[in-house]
Amino acid sequence: MNFYIGIDLGTSAVKLLLTDEAGKILRTVSEAYPLSSPRPGWSEQAPEDWWKGVSNGIESLLEGYDRAAVAGIGVGGQMHGLVMLDENDRVLRPAILWNDTRTGKQTDDLNRKTGKEVLQNATGNIAFAGFTAPKILWVRENEPELFSRCKKICLPKDYINYRLTGVFATDVSDASGTLYFDVEHRCWSKEMLDLLGVDEAVLPRVFESEEVIGRTVCFGLNAPVVAGAGDNAAAAIGTDTVREGQCNISLGTSGTVFLPTDTYVKTENPALHSFCHANGKWHLMGCILSAASCNKWLNETVFQSGYDVPAADSAEGLFFLPYFSGERCPHNDEDIRGAFLGLTHNTSREQMQLAVYEGVSFAIRDCIALCPQSVKSATVCGGGTKSDDWMRVLSDVLGIELQIIDNEGPAYGGALLAAKQHCRPIVKAVVRPRPDAAAAYDKKYQKYRALYPMLKDYFKEDLQ
Ligand code: XUL
Repeated sequence: MNFYIGIDLGTSAVKLLLTDEAGKILRTVSEAYPLSSPRPGWSEQAPEDWWKGVSNGIESLLEGYDRAAVAGIGVGGQMHGLVMLDENDRVLRPAILWNDTRTGKQTDDLNRKTGKEVLQNATGNIAFAGFTAPKILWVRENEPELFSRCKKICLPKDYINYRLTGVFATDVSDASGTLYFDVEHRCWSKEMLDLLGVDEAVLPRVFESEEVIGRTVCFGLNAPVVAGAGDNAAAAIGTDTVREGQCNISLGTSGTVFLPTDTYVKTENPALHSFCHANGKWHLMGCILSAASCNKWLNETVFQSGYDVPAADSAEGLFFLPYFSGERCPHNDEDIRGAFLGLTHNTSREQMQLAVYEGVSFAIRDCIALCPQSVKSATVCGGGTKSDDWMRVLSDVLGIELQIIDNEGPAYGGALLAAKQHCRPIVKAVVRPRPDAAAAYDKKYQKYRALYPMLKDYFKEDLQ
């Protein structure tokens, strides 16, 4: 019997799972690591912490299993992060992550001076603060000495694959989020690299997600490692979201809406990302920067009571805005911040809990509203699916049927890519919208939408 390892290099933890040849999950483990925010809006992690998490995770995952039977490894990982190595492959600085918003100026310069049209023609996308290109510009402007010592630039999961195999590689889905990748033609964009002043020699070689990049050189394993995928494309493989017309919603630290497309799509509304999928095709995606992380904040920082507060039946007049790290889609605004609005002396914890579920669900609805095709149902994966209350609210807010998936999407997708398997995921629940609640949420959503335009200028002023 052969086994496959799937790895999801997340933002709060790395999750690993072991499957058999038929895609059955035999064991899952996870290893948490810290996230540091040395200044407001900054978000960094030490690549060495990722590697420690992966190393410990592989040891616990394989306890009692025959290592010689591991026939493949696939890694999915948090996208867009900037990892820089020197000539001795030493990490030059902490990785700057997807939800770091320090690059407002560089992002603005790219969108305004270079121009959105030029960026979209070259790469399929416009600039967002979280993408990799503005981060490179930031390091060059702010840490020039360090930048001059940089000999390799890669994405988080590519660093793990490099440590696993010694092969410097990336895959098309993750490369899509750099803003120096030509999504339509699935290769680095020479035009963008020239514009950024980056030499292609510092970048990894590009593979399709299922392609084997090399074999493991550690942990007593001799297994092929595939190129893997960005976490959202990996989650789409894990939830079998591979055909046009399907939709996967992921509620992790970030929230995403993922729509596979058969061909490359130049989006009318560039707040949606147009990226390569891990199945040889493409996809559109909306991304909100804070999703299940808002619920974590409410329960761990505010309530401190172990996720035991049920959501109230209604929280009329109470609104929650989930913009804890600024917002990507649809606002592309790194300065906006989160808020509770409409608090009174009678506001209960249960109502605050409901408002957080509603606020994140409204932000997901904002992404869906931009989609060119109508979304009639969706699979949902990620930590947010642990709350039945939230799944009920999400279905009511979106007015669509949800199939709640019983696996860690990206890690499972990684294992399937390694096994070259296509599996129907296990659906643990189906949630259908309740007509009355859905109609009430249509009204509340209109009020929610009015809040961002009212608040955005306030946060642009230097008041924080
Ligand atoms: C996608 C994005 C996030 C990260 C989170 O564009 O930034 O979903 O990949 O891991």
